[in-house]
Amino acid sequence: MNLSKKNIFWQQSSIKLENRQIKNGHAGAVLWFTGLSSSGKSTLAHNVEKHLFDLGMQVYVLDGDNVRHGLCGDLGFSVEDRIENIRRISEVSKLFMNAGFIVLTAFIAPYQIQRKRAKKLIGTTNFLEIYCQCPLEVCEERDVKGLYKQARNGKIKDFTGISSCYEEPLSPDLAVNTAQLSLEESTNKVINLLQNRGIIHG
Ligand code: ADX
Repeated sequence: MNLSKKNIFWQQSSIKLENRQIKNGHAGAVLWFTGLSSSGKSTLAHNVEKHLFDLGMQVYVLDGDNVRHGLCGDLGFSVEDRIENIRRISEVSKLFMNAGFIVLTAFIAPYQIQRKRAKKLIGTTNFLEIYCQCPLEVCEERDVKGLYKQARNGKIKDFTGISSCYEEPLSPDLAVNTAQLSLEESTNKVINLLQNRGIIHG
């Protein structure tokens, strides 16, 4: 569906992003976690969120499983649906970022083209790609939701890592080896990245 934007106008806010950032004490940003199912994306994103929240920051996690209950409840796991899923999330993340938030997204986002498009839409400065790097064997052993087993048995089709591809990030802003590091160590790596990029201070 390619609808015309002819009669649609952009409404400017009277509040500048800069002023939102001054009020919040930090910049808006999107921390784009990517990785296989059970690689630790949600766990890490939620732990970073808690850490930043306790410091008084505006933060919010957009989580794959949650978003698929509502906003993307009409989508499955075909290539087209996954692309549409991430397109919507990219747009929502941009809105949150423009509201001054540090947004943490926890989606598989298996294709490089999706992540490239997300970065292009959101802007290169405050888009940080964080790869939750974890061997498939480890994810499968964890099998937090019992889905790998079902995928192996053929009960779930197009399952990432088993019957659908995952394209590893080529140059992520950060790769976190979640198979080797503790949650605390992984969280510290993300916080350090935010400090190094000047998104948060102190
Ligand atoms: S994405 O590929 O479109 O980015 P998303 O992160 O939203 O995926 O959803 C992934 C979650 O959906 C997984 O963690 C898992 O719990 C569940 N899931 C159900 N079916 C599949 C499938 N075929 N492939 C991958 N994940 C699936």
